[in-house]
Amino acid sequence: MKSTARKNVLSKWLKTKAILKDPKVRRVVPETHRMNEKSLREMLSRYSMVYIKPEAGTYGKGVMRVEQDNGSYWYQKEEKKRAFDSFSSMYRSIVRNKRKRPYLVQKGIHLLKYKGRRFDIRVMVQRNRKLAWEMTGMIGRVAHPRKIVTNYHSGGKPTDVRTLLKAFASGEKLSSIEKNLSKTGYDAAIALSRTYPGLNMVGADIGLDNHLRPWIIELNTNPDPYIFRHLADKRIARKVLSYARALRRIPPAKSKPKR
Ligand SMILES: Nc1ncnc2c1ncn2[C@@H]1O[C@H](COP(=O)(O)OP(=O)(O)OP(=O)(O)O)[C@@H](O)[C@H]1O
Ligand SMILES: [Mg+2]
Repeated sequence: MKSTARKNVLSKWLKTKAILKDPKVRRVVPETHRMNEKSLREMLSRYSMVYIKPEAGTYGKGVMRVEQDNGSYWYQKEEKKRAFDSFSSMYRSIVRNKRKRPYLVQKGIHLLKYKGRRFDIRVMVQRNRKLAWEMTGMIGRVAHPRKIVTNYHSGGKPTDVRTLLKAFASGEKLSSIEKNLSKTGYDAAIALSRTYPGLNMVGADIGLDNHLRPWIIELNTNPDPYIFRHLADKRIARKVLSYARALRRIPPAKSKPKR
């Protein structure tokens, strides 16, 4: 299929390269490279903590968090964290335990925590009936306490953004963080659709660091619209789902959701 017609782009590498073309968006993309022994070693010495992930993964499968401190090395996959006294021995173990397909290495973001669990924010951006991009909803995803990924399919818990951010900000500051998240997702969707104009839904996974600065962790082009049903405010799911239906991304109302 021609890139202009594509509704779904699987490669995280192609999606990252596409949004790096936009100078405004570029500033919020954590440094990312194709992973090999050399790039992992370099990225780890630069950032001390990185994530590695399959170039075309889903549900957080195969994602690992890799750390170094003072000559000690660790990596965690699912609930298991392993320690090593050299980079080479860790790398050998990673190769054995990773999925047998190309990986990316990305600067790790120290995500904010809620009750001791990491969280990130899914910002949904969809084309409306006039085909203009619109931010339609956002929802927090709180990681399982012993896991390094926030995905729903890995035990992540969908949670209202305000609940998660209350400990960090209130009033105008809280609103401005929310606006910033929304704008970051919106700008990223526009940037991605310049390379892939056929896209009509983008679920932006955005992490906040200790300075409440947003980082684009990943852009999903086939995001689950049903996750918004977890919000108490039912208007949001209604909007997200009605846009998805109008674009024929999900079946008409009343039929059962697939997932
Ligand atoms: N650079 C990073 N810094 C901090 N956390 C990260 C980073 N990369 C990934 N994560 C965590 O791991 C989760 C899964 O990673 P990612 O979204 O890139 O892959 P995926 O979920 O497998 O893909 P998909 O969303 O298409 O199913 C993220 O939602 C986030 O919680
Ligand atoms: Mg993801």
